[in-house]
Amino acid sequence: MDKVIVAQNISLSYSNNETIINKATFSMNSGDFIFITGASGSGKSTLLKSLYGSLKPTQGSLVVCGVELKGVSNSKLNFLRRHIGIVFQDYKLIKEWTIEKNIMLPLLISGYEKDVTQSQVDSLLKHVRLKHQSGKFPLELSGGEQQRVAMARALAHNPILILADEPTGNLDDYSSQLIWNLLEGANEQLKTTVIVVTHHIPQTMNIEYKHYHIEYGSINEII
Ligand SMILES: Nc1ncnc2c1ncn2[C@@H]1O[C@H](COP(=O)(O)OP(=O)(O)OP(=O)(O)O)[C@@H](O)[C@H]1O
Ligand SMILES: [Mg+2]
Repeated sequence: MDKVIVAQNISLSYSNNETIINKATFSMNSGDFIFITGASGSGKSTLLKSLYGSLKPTQGSLVVCGVELKGVSNSKLNFLRRHIGIVFQDYKLIKEWTIEKNIMLPLLISGYEKDVTQSQVDSLLKHVRLKHQSGKFPLELSGGEQQRVAMARALAHNPILILADEPTGNLDDYSSQLIWNLLEGANEQLKTTVIVVTHHIPQTMNIEYKHYHIEYGSINEII
């Protein structure tokens, strides 16, 4: 089975040199659905940043979709990111752009045709129940609505890997279920590899998943 992520002995820290992740070794298969849990401050977002190439390991080897991230060039990283959808913990929507244009962004970068782009965006807006808000700007929406826009943007270009950092953190049960359904659907129908950081693994999952827990700098699979 193809590996989407192969981490060997990776350590992660910020410029203050405090070790957040200490010599972790793990791999994730193509098509896996993976939950990552851990206490606040344990390093979940830090791990996702490293998988997205925005925080380089201080040691070890980290290969994502076949690309070694240690010492990766900017052009190769940009290319890799076209195949990744990411939901940041703080959403990172472009506040000068409408909701619709925010969701269009990865499609524009990937060079999709205009009519494909429009129908994909319309369909995603419907899925996250935000069709009526499409012309608004992010700051005109509630936190939970912005979070749903971020999820739609992450899915827009049919990525092979989705990284989602607490994608239901701000949502009520109904909207959370919409998000889990979208992620399950991408995993089942498109074989997208999904890595989700959450504090609560939903009880309603219809598919098999893996679970890693971060504690004291270690990443342990819970079986
Ligand atoms: N930019 C940064 N510079 C320095 N230290 C950081 C930075 N971002 C995070 N940290 C530190 O790294 C550790 C892990 O942070 P991280 O954001 O990965 O935690 P988390 O598990 O995602 O927590 P939460 O559940 O609260 O989101 C924390 O001790 C935090 O203070
Ligand atoms: Mg976090």
